Amino acid sequence: MQSSGISQVKGVDSGILINAQGDQWARFRMEQLSTYGGIAIAGIFALIVLFYVVRGRIPIEGGLSGQMVRRFSDYERIVHWTLAIVFLFLAITGLILLLGRPLLLPLFGKDAFSLLASASKEGHNLFGPLFLVSLIMMLISFARRNIYERGDMTWLLKGGGLIGDGHASGGFFNMGEKTWYWMVILIGLVIAISGLILVSPNFGQGRMIMGLSHVVHTIGALILMTVSIGHMYLGSIGSEGALEGMKTGYVDINWADAHHDRWGKVCHEENLIISAEEYARLQGEKPDVTAEMATTEQVK
Ligand code: HEM
Ligand code: HEM
Repeated sequence: MQSSGISQVKGVDSGILINAQGDQWARFRMEQLSTYGGIAIAGIFALIVLFYVVRGRIPIEGGLSGQMVRRFSDYERIVHWTLAIVFLFLAITGLILLLGRPLLLPLFGKDAFSLLASASKEGHNLFGPLFLVSLIMMLISFARRNIYERGDMTWLLKGGGLIGDGHASGGFFNMGEKTWYWMVILIGLVIAISGLILVSPNFGQGRMIMGLSHVVHTIGALILMTVSIGHMYLGSIGSEGALEGMKTGYVDINWADAHHDRWGKVCHEENLIISAEEYARLQGEKPDVTAEMATTEQVK
């Protein structure tokens, strides 16, 4: 509810003396958003620790072979790590703004916390637009390989290979990765657009739009942050051999066969596998950027 009146001041919302909706928004932000947001982030951490204790690291069937296959180009890895670093910076600065008052203020005291909070706000506002740029780079270079295929359903039916011992079939990317990818792109765009509305309130957006953008921005950010914790776990300590691809551009052929069997098959058929010695030589020198890679077209 807003009470509208008449004012000589020209500007959006200038005729509104009492903005009851603003009060509702502030209460929602202070009570629901920060409480449930904090619980969601802490909850997913706890779940992952539990999963790791119960299931441990997902091993590669037959262990590592040492024979490698090219998976990502240098450019693709730069795109991934730029997006990841910008996202993590925005996530940390955003969380300082959202949860700092209840969690950090009592720890650091007023002076240190106000310095940290204003630095986070400036840093968040400054780096925000970079997120949109890296998101568009990710959209352009990874989209084609993330189009869903009929074979992806079997991955879902097998619980992604996380449940039981069944083998979950996958192409260059499996269904779980494709879903993560489209979440990053679509929810990321919502976060970026709402963030840009918040960062430059000079285009006639009134309090209503600002409040709505803030809620959409924070809920979107909380969803992506929560799922990203699962992604970072599975992309590193959670799954043997997975990080190698984003670290060096090459993966072990046994990893490819275990997690991306349809792509692995193409790598065998097209003779794209290199020996451990050749791989060591390439790592010692500069890896060949133009090395042949099996693309989705070949996988389909
Ligand atoms: C410590 C942090 C991270 C690690 C270790 C990591 C690891 C990985 C790995 C290993 C892959 C390739 C998987 C494969 O070869 O199939 C990958 C892909 C990807 N990662 Fe990350 N990642 C991290 C952070 C992030 C963050 C913060 C984001 C974005 C919010 C992100 C977004 C993506 C996307 C969109 C893909 C491509 C998935 C696809 O195209 O289907 N990553 N990551
Ligand atoms: C184009 C990208 C982005 C822009 C322009 C942007 C901008 C903003 C702005 C202007 C605020 C309000 C800051 C203030 O209180 O003064 C904000 C808050 C926030 N942003 Fe972003 N942001 C972007 C991306 C992200 C991303 C990727 C995340 C998470 C991964 C994120 C998480 C948050 C959080 C948690 C808040 C705190 C909300 C609160 O304190 O109530 N933002 N953002």
